[in-house]
Amino acid sequence: MQVFHQALESDPEFRNRIARVEAYTARHALLNLTARSAGPVVIPVVVHVVYDSPELNLSDEQVRSQIDVLNEDYNQANADRINVPSVWSSVVGNAGIRFALATTDPSGASTTGIVRKQTTLTSFSAGDDGVKSSAAGGDDPWPSDRYLNVWTCNLGGGLLGYATFPLQVASRDGVVILASAFGRQGSAEYPYDRGRTMTHEVGHWLNLRHIWGDTTDCSGTDYVDDTPNAGGPNYRTPTFPHVTCGNGPNGDMFMNFMDYVDDAAMIMFTQGQCARMAAALDGPRASVARGA
Ligand code: ARG
Ligand code: ZN
Ligand code: CA
Repeated sequence: MQVFHQALESDPEFRNRIARVEAYTARHALLNLTARSAGPVVIPVVVHVVYDSPELNLSDEQVRSQIDVLNEDYNQANADRINVPSVWSSVVGNAGIRFALATTDPSGASTTGIVRKQTTLTSFSAGDDGVKSSAAGGDDPWPSDRYLNVWTCNLGGGLLGYATFPLQVASRDGVVILASAFGRQGSAEYPYDRGRTMTHEVGHWLNLRHIWGDTTDCSGTDYVDDTPNAGGPNYRTPTFPHVTCGNGPNGDMFMNFMDYVDDAAMIMFTQGQCARMAAALDGPRASVARGA
């Protein structure tokens, strides 16, 4: 978000692109278009496993466990969805998006969709995006108009993961996930061992903002009507209801994938969020949704 807001402030072209995407997204929601009307969407994923020590060279199984989580969470098939407070059961959304490890690489050769890359670096940072560059000790992306690029590695600064928004930066598009917050086995560590970091980051990649609107004075918005405004991020496993910004009696929708709670506590998208993601898939992400 820091990088995103800095670009909004300093890059008028970026500001224009984002304004156009928001205008388009609002129109898309009004017309009630959905990507699903055009048939099921499958997004080809390439996972770049960047490791300096064997523990970070995650197994194919662990990678597949992460893809499974995405397919559950983006198809309202996560077992813990039953824990959504009943006041919100009518707004829970089904994104209807499927994810599959790529079966063809950019040159057309067959692939597992998993690329392993040994590095000498013990950690990467979001600031310089090093993990996305072979020259910097990471691994170059596959074309971002055809693949969702995912990197898993060690990250500094307590960061669990980070993402780019649609039209932010094509050459470094994708999501990065800390190896100990990736998938739901192997190196994944409690309380980030249910694969929800990637569910959250892919939400950003599909144009979702944080549920509290990225301000802490109740002035922000996530551009979604069926998520209550909230005063800031929630952490750990909050008790319902947590009232902020005059959003009583139900309070913050802290169990939303776009809050900051523990993996076990984030369990839902809303229909409004799904409409935003559908707009992204019909618009700036359309070429990826068509498949590689
Ligand atoms: N970018 C956020 C961070 O690094 C992701 C938070 C994901 N939360 C989670 N429970 N997995 O803090
Ligand atoms: Zn986030
Ligand atoms: Ca909202």
